[in-house]
Amino acid sequence: MPVKSAVFGVVAAAIVFSSQAALAQDAAKGEQVFKQCMTCHRIGPDAKNLVGPVLTGVIGRQSGTAPGFAYSALNKAAGENGLVWSDELIMQYLPDPNAFLKKFLTDKGKADLATGSTKMAFKLADEQQRKDVIAYINKFSEKK
Ligand code: HEC
Repeated sequence: MPVKSAVFGVVAAAIVFSSQAALAQDAAKGEQVFKQCMTCHRIGPDAKNLVGPVLTGVIGRQSGTAPGFAYSALNKAAGENGLVWSDELIMQYLPDPNAFLKKFLTDKGKADLATGSTKMAFKLADEQQRKDVIAYINKFSEKK
């Protein structure tokens, strides 16, 4: 019995370790992933709005409030009803921005505002890429 449980312990530890390694964030890899975002977004001290809003400082920023950017009603309404971007929320947003914003508003009891669609016509499904790109974006945001 002791031998068996010791083996089990080692295997369990290995599984925990490898899944943690797989989920670690890597800002350098995130910079590569961000090249996809750069079709529409810029980030950094001199960034300007493009097809999409500037992402400098987006972590901790209310949704739909980058100065001078003409947001969709959906993106703006989410911010006006409490959406403030965090690592975790951007993780949930990227695989399907439209569905995320509609669900956010619906969960807030604002199903009437969950109409139309976001202007962000892009989805990022890969979990590791999402973690890495968020680590990169964090380099340009005040730490929470
Ligand atoms: C095809 C163009 C395009 C690409 C590619 C794109 N985005 Fe966007 N993104 C937009 C637009 C346009 C908006 C504004 C959405 C709106 O007004 O509905 C936006 C909004 C956002 C927002 C919300 C910003 C705010 O101020 O509320 C975040 C966060 C975001 N994008 C992150 C990303 C990340 C990270 C990537 C790359 C993985 C990415 N986007 C790729 C066009 C794009």
